[in-house]
Amino acid sequence: MRKSFPVEELARDPRFVRVEMRERLADPRPRPTNTDGKRNNNRLVPQRPDAPDAARALMHGIFVGEIQALEGAGRTCWDFTTGDGDNEAPFALKLDMARQCWDEARHVEISLKLSDHMGTEIGEFSENTFLYEAACNPDPVLRLTGVNRALEGLAIDVFTTMKDFGDIAGDPILEFCEDWMLADEVTHVKMGSDWLRRITANDKERQQQALEFQRTIDKLFSFGGFRGESEENPVHLARRFREMAGFTEDEITELVDVAAEAHAEAIARSEAAATASGA
Ligand SMILES: [Fe+2]
Ligand SMILES: [Fe+2]
Repeated sequence: MRKSFPVEELARDPRFVRVEMRERLADPRPRPTNTDGKRNNNRLVPQRPDAPDAARALMHGIFVGEIQALEGAGRTCWDFTTGDGDNEAPFALKLDMARQCWDEARHVEISLKLSDHMGTEIGEFSENTFLYEAACNPDPVLRLTGVNRALEGLAIDVFTTMKDFGDIAGDPILEFCEDWMLADEVTHVKMGSDWLRRITANDKERQQQALEFQRTIDKLFSFGGFRGESEENPVHLARRFREMAGFTEDEITELVDVAAEAHAEAIARSEAAATASGA
């Protein structure tokens, strides 16, 4: 069996619709607005006019993310020889990844049933394969930092948002399922934090490269104010769970700064586009 499986060849049936990240970011269509004309990307609460569709879209995103998390963790068990060398993965790391596969397979099933519960069909929303692409990094430490710490860290924030949404919307099934998956994600992020620190304890350069890779991904996924700490951000940073997952106070503060930076850049970009079009 070949090592490092290309993203283009991931097995999907015809229901899935793949959309590249760059296509999404370059989408020229204006974002939907509320009746008061403000951009409709506020915190996900039932009062938001588009709340049902926004929640279903987020849930479908979680579903495809779970599939890719399963594929990525599975690849990490296989793509590297077992050992302590630079291009190898220690046996205990592979054991963690095998446990993660088990969790993610369960999350795929839960997410599929939750999507059905919310009235969504597979492929109703697109699939972005960025998570799997981050899981193709040739350095196992960068894989774990990019996937487990950045993207599953984002999953912690998203699951907390969805759990709160289930709570205030009066949907105990959604609330319970998100809480259940959240507990596993905290464990996965903690694995990323622990392995990053353990493997790079005597290699500060590799540690910096891994943290830089994480920062790039964190910024990408904070694009347009998707994640932040104000009411304007649909997804909030779950500080307490981040701490439980091995993030230091400084790392959480840095993440808040990265999110604010990405938000400010997006606002500047949309104002420049509005000026250019004479609006
Ligand atoms: Fe998961
Ligand atoms: Fe996970």
